[in-house]
Formats: sequence, structure tokens, C-alpha cells
Amino acid sequence: MYKDKIVVVAGGTGSVGEGIAKWFVSQGATVVIPTRNMTKIAKVQAYIAPNGKNLHFIEGNIADETDAIRVRDEIIATYGQIDAMVSSLFGWWSGDKLTDLSLERWNYIINSSLTTHFIVAKTFIPYIAPRGSYSFIVGLSSVRPVPHSGPISVANAAELMLRRVLSAENDPNQIRINDINLGPINTRSRGAMYSSPDYIDAVEVGRIAGIIAFEEGQNITDASIALRLKTNYHEWLTQMGIN
Ligand SMILES: NC(=O)c1ccc[n+]([C@@H]2O[C@H](COP(=O)([O-])OP(=O)(O)OC[C@H]3O[C@@H](n4cnc5c(N)ncnc54)[C@H](OP(=O)(O)O)[C@@H]3O)[C@@H](O)[C@H]2O)c1
Repeated sequence: MYKDKIVVVAGGTGSVGEGIAKWFVSQGATVVIPTRNMTKIAKVQAYIAPNGKNLHFIEGNIADETDAIRVRDEIIATYGQIDAMVSSLFGWWSGDKLTDLSLERWNYIINSSLTTHFIVAKTFIPYIAPRGSYSFIVGLSSVRPVPHSGPISVANAAELMLRRVLSAENDPNQIRINDINLGPINTRSRGAMYSSPDYIDAVEVGRIAGIIAFEEGQNITDASIALRLKTNYHEWLTQMGIN
């Protein structure tokens, strides 16, 4: 269905990102995943693309602006264009409460999550094909304070505003920028014990991003799509006219 589409999944080696990449590959897109650590490929390659086709990795640190530009330019030189991008960056952290948190730890988490999102967005968004899609993946902690995960909650909340300002500054005829704001996700790394039939699956997150990029959601722009649980996902599919 997504044949000839080039999709970049930033964070595609991660728990949610691998599911997103798997959905796009399963629909015939060519998926490119930047990674800082090429040894991670072995863990995800066969899962994302069981037939070994349409999946490519590029080594680089997209949290570093110079390297992000190099990665972007190499992707465009190799694949011709970027039709859609999903940014599923940085995972979870819990530890000291804010009043005990070291500045070093604060800076590390804010840089790894919020600042990385900023660098990746500013580097790639201007280069996405017209009417293409850029989706931020954000967690529920963006709107619900999570004790002992303060810097993650703060970064996630700021990522929502980052997305909104990018949308406000953007010409929607150029590119559509949205965020997909999720509750807990069933991922391979979560394992059966902590999974639930009430949770959305990582591959379904990919489907949401795919619908926005190439299907019934192609007019969605400047939207925050809050889908906490599987029931919300099914309601959203119905709203989109999809069974
Ligand atoms: N897991 C959940 O249940 C869940 C629920 C709701 C929302 N989310 C959201 O989904 C997103 C991804 O979460 P996840 O659980 O998939 O995380 P994860 O497994 O840690 O994956 C994050 C990926 O981000 C990439 N990355 C790039 N630059 C990074 C940097 N500077 N620091 C850290 N990672 C960097 C990493 O790729 P390389 O190491 O290959 O470079 C890594 O594979 C987050 O925004 C999270 O809030 C997750």
C-alpha cells in the first residue's frame, strides 16, 4: 500500500520504534532507521522485516546537529526523498524526585529527549517532501505528572509545545506536523507480564502514523492525537472511517 514511499523512523531500534518500522515495512514502504549503535540491528532486523526487504540502517548520532545533517543528506542522496518521518526518541527514566535530582542527570535527560527532538525536527522537517508527514511520538507523562520521573514529564510536556510551535511556524501545504500522544504500549521489551490487552501495540502505533502519512489521515495537520488505550485506538479508527 505504501510502495515507493520512503519513511525515516528515528528511534526505530527502540521498543516503540521497531513496531512503527515494522508496520511501514509490512505495507511496502522503504524504511530507513538511523542508529548510534549498529550492533542493535541484529536485535530488530528480522522482527521489522521478516523477508529482509525494504529496511535500511544508517549509522549516526542524530542527537548531534552536524551528524544529523550528514545522516539526512545521505538518506536523500541514497533514496531520493523522504515522504514521511516518525520520531520515537528516548525512552523512560525514573529515579530521584526533582528536589534531589542532580543538574547533571537533568541535563542528560532533557538533552537526550527534548533537545534531540528539537535537533531532529529542525534538521529533517524542511527536507520532507511536500504534503509529507512528520509525527512526534510522545507519552502520557506529557500531561500527567509522574513522580520520580520529573525530567521525562517536563521534557514530554515541552515536546508537545515544540510540536505546536513547529506547526504554527510551518506552511501546512509543505509538510504536516502532528504528535501521537500515547499511554502504555505493548512492546517486545515490555514482556508478557507487563503487557495488557487494553494497551495499544507498538505496530499499531505504526499504523496510526501510516494512516496520517498515507491513508485516510492525509489531511491531518497541527493535531495532537491522544490515544491512551486500545479502546481509544479503535474509536479513532472508526472516526477515520476505518474498520
Ligand atoms: N514504551 C512505552 O510503553 C511508551 C509509551 C508511551 C510513549 N512512549 C514514547 O515512545 C518513545 C520511544 O520510547 P521507547 O520505549 O521505544 O524508547 P527506547 O526503547 O529507549 O528507544 C528509543 C530510541 O531512541 C533512539 N535515540 C536517538 N537518539 C537518542 C538519544 N540521544 N538518547 C536516547 N535514545 C536516542 C535510540 O536509538 P539508537 O540507540 O539506535 O540510536 C533508541 O532506540 C518515547 O518518546 C516515549 O515517551 C513509549
